[in-house]
Amino acid sequence: MHFTGANILSVNQFDLDAIQKVFSIADQMQPYAHRKKRTRVLDGAILGNLFFEPSTRTRVSFGTAFNLLGGEVRETTGMESSAIAKGESLYDTARVLSSYSDIIAMRHPKAGSVAEFAEGSRVPVINGGDGANEHPTQALLDLYTIQKELLHHQLQVDGMHICMMGDLKYGRTVHSLSKLLALYKNVRFTLISPRELRMPDDILSILDTAGHRVTVTEAIEGSLDADIVYQTRIQQERFANLQDADQYRGKFRLNHEIYTKHYKPNTVIMHPLPRDSRAEANELDNDLNQNPNLAIFRQADNGVLIRMALFALTLGVDHLLEKYATDV
Ligand code: CP
Repeated sequence: MHFTGANILSVNQFDLDAIQKVFSIADQMQPYAHRKKRTRVLDGAILGNLFFEPSTRTRVSFGTAFNLLGGEVRETTGMESSAIAKGESLYDTARVLSSYSDIIAMRHPKAGSVAEFAEGSRVPVINGGDGANEHPTQALLDLYTIQKELLHHQLQVDGMHICMMGDLKYGRTVHSLSKLLALYKNVRFTLISPRELRMPDDILSILDTAGHRVTVTEAIEGSLDADIVYQTRIQQERFANLQDADQYRGKFRLNHEIYTKHYKPNTVIMHPLPRDSRAEANELDNDLNQNPNLAIFRQADNGVLIRMALFALTLGVDHLLEKYATDV
């Protein structure tokens, strides 16, 4: 994959070499992300950070990552504060905003919208989540986290067993992560969800074609040898109405009691966040907060490293970090 000037729209663009390239640059970002060193490699560059759907982690970590590389951030949040609310097309918005920015990160509620926007953009566009379709930077940070967590247990992605649980139909993070994991060898997938919220057939077909072992189930039992349990939230914003979402809320919980009964003692616990902490949902209970295998905040931290790496690669400055570095 040639990164310089590329849009990052889908995990379909990545092969194993491209993934390892991103992870290697992410590793190099650690001293800058942890404020041990400073770099001005993107001095003068501007990120257009366009979030037309709610976000905490993705939006702020894109901005933080760009700032840590020395660049500046201009932000639009919410449809209502954009001229899109007056009927402006994504193409026109892209043509205009891409002359104000060197790179654009964007989230939008409609599947395919970020790719549509990229057609009008004159600068690289990074998909921060498009509807129930994809969330490629989340998938990269999830995979980066999985590799690191498994390494502590002398395990690797090839041959691992991952349980994905919850809303696998609308959860775009599990779609993108599954596609990346399909590139590895002999991964075992246990996909736990209500029947109506099953993993879409196109993703199941990708896993099947790649020769992975996939179990689709509505029961949380049978996961005792899982290396990773990846919990997800019921994506209420993708349902026709709240009542439809309510019937699935709270059905597939993970708490200390369930974890202890159904998972081995070192199973890594992941969740893309936000977790729905309301009593009727509570898919990942606070009683797991002190469990050392809870990797959810390490995932969020890794998001900064991955997004720094993607900015450096797409803007073609990954080899210049040291040149513009100073000690703190
Ligand atoms: N994981 C994730 O996309 O979180 P936000 O919705 O807060 O960006």
